[in-house]
Amino acid sequence: MGEGSTSSSSTLTQRLQADLERIVSSAYEAFDSATVKQRYELLTLSGHHHETYVLRGLRRLSSGFYVLDSSRPWLCYWILHSLSLLRRSVDGGLYDRSVAFLKRCQDPEGGYGGGPGQMPHLATTYAAVCAIVTLGGEKALASIDREKTLKFLLRMKDPCGGFRVHEDGEMDMRGSYTALAVAHMLGILTPELVENVGEFVRSCQTYEGGIGGEPGSEAHGGYTFCGLAALALVNQLHVLDLPALVNWVAFRQGRVEGGFQGRTNKLVDGCYSFWQGGCFQLLQQYMPHLWVQQNASMPGLSKAGDGSEGKMPGSQTADSAMEDVEVKKSEEASGRVEEGTSSSKTADSKKESGVDLNPLTEALNTKPSDSKPATEDGRDPSSAPAAHEEEEEEFFSPTGNVPEVEELDSEDEGCEFTGPMAKTGFSSAEKLFPMVEIGFHREPQHVVCVEVSEAPQGVVQDPGTVGVSGTSSDSSRAPGEPLSVDEFLYGPIFNSQALQAYILLCCQEIGGGLRDKPGKMADFYHTCYCLSGLSAAQYSTAHRVGGPPPPSSVLGPYSNLLEATHALCNVRLDRYYEARSFFQR
Ligand code: FPP
Ligand code: ZN
Repeated sequence: MGEGSTSSSSTLTQRLQADLERIVSSAYEAFDSATVKQRYELLTLSGHHHETYVLRGLRRLSSGFYVLDSSRPWLCYWILHSLSLLRRSVDGGLYDRSVAFLKRCQDPEGGYGGGPGQMPHLATTYAAVCAIVTLGGEKALASIDREKTLKFLLRMKDPCGGFRVHEDGEMDMRGSYTALAVAHMLGILTPELVENVGEFVRSCQTYEGGIGGEPGSEAHGGYTFCGLAALALVNQLHVLDLPALVNWVAFRQGRVEGGFQGRTNKLVDGCYSFWQGGCFQLLQQYMPHLWVQQNASMPGLSKAGDGSEGKMPGSQTADSAMEDVEVKKSEEASGRVEEGTSSSKTADSKKESGVDLNPLTEALNTKPSDSKPATEDGRDPSSAPAAHEEEEEEFFSPTGNVPEVEELDSEDEGCEFTGPMAKTGFSSAEKLFPMVEIGFHREPQHVVCVEVSEAPQGVVQDPGTVGVSGTSSDSSRAPGEPLSVDEFLYGPIFNSQALQAYILLCCQEIGGGLRDKPGKMADFYHTCYCLSGLSAAQYSTAHRVGGPPPPSSVLGPYSNLLEATHALCNVRLDRYYEARSFFQR
């Protein structure tokens, strides 16, 4: 039992969840009542501070990092990838040192260990290869012994289709993903590596819809991304129940926080912005697979009565004509501010005057024990239901202390809550940054894709090569012809604005670095995956892979826009292409 526990019936997680919702909600409340200039500053990604923060780690690590001694290629990847997303490059000296260090981690028999002389492991092999691809250039790319790497991957392969993470080690979804992503990036994805992969991953999809680490384990965002990406890499997404998976991931997004939780009834965490948010980035590029399954299993699910049942919607419909209106409404509601109203950054507001001018600081620094006294069940009395709201008890869940959609009064202001959150002052990501429904329809129990452009016959044969499949309404491609990388995207199929709000407003640390949640310290892992998730969210409405997203898709100033990543490998898209063509030579 933690501090502040007043009820024997609430669990520690429920109390932590209630605390987090209070803290995040007051931060959103402070944001909502801030001036336009302050909001602009609050929504600004402090790229310079994040760069300084991660660069320190690449140059020298404090002794406290001894615990990560067997994860040194990971540190390189988290830092280099963060820098690359921020469009920063390392100087010549650091480049050379990084290449030389990673080379020393390469095992003479193939694969990379956690440090020089350490046993090769699939996870550190993936991290090292991603770091090298991110560094780019002949010197880095030529340092990889592809032949030996393939031998290592084949040694890790089990006949059941899974991969052991090291010699005699455990077999789990990380193994499948990291082995296949490495093989793909290096152009060594052989039929032996692909054999039975579909069977293994399918056996890990749970009754919830997400994917667990191994057969019989609980669905988790980290493993769900790994399983989904592994299947996309071998072009076998069809073996999964995709509607169930999308449904599970979509409802892992906290309605109060805007961020994602890793598993049901756990707290949101910035790193799942990528592990869960990245699933959407990936799925948006494979929407035809999803569409086919939805229509095969639930033919009536295209919006009932809209005349679109049973056909691939492609033409401009009344729904899509309404999109502009919806987007505008959402922009107004989200307090979006125009670029150029101020040049200072969030973190700078403190430095300038010596006084913390950041209106969120107080809210985010409220420790759980400083919170208002909780009610019996650990909730804030101001958000607890009154006696007559007894039935709404069941709506109180770690995924969002909000009523079901039927309870919402959407007449005037979009998602206006009539339940616990209707109490004055209870702000939430969903309230401030409402969902913009483009290309899908979200219902209380499931998410249904209703707007794709064309029949899905053009699914790519080597999805990894182009990193995308899909259709385009203006495509001149003949039916069945493989798609090119330039073709279309749909989406977003999740609340991308709310996710960006969580990352920008709740995960940025003033001095640089990004974190799991308010109250936690920034670290390199969370910095990397918060930024990766931010990039995935920003590009979620781009019409072409890597193409510029419309300004309305980028929360805050457009200068927040990060580099685009490869949806399956999570390396910068241009570095991915460079590596692929280098290894094809
Ligand atoms: C639970 O931690 C964490 C896991 C069960 C593993 C998560 C897996 C990944 C993040 C993917 C790793 C991917 C690669 C490529 C190596 P927890 O119980 O502390 O967190 P939770 O409460 O959020 O579930
Ligand atoms: Zn985390």
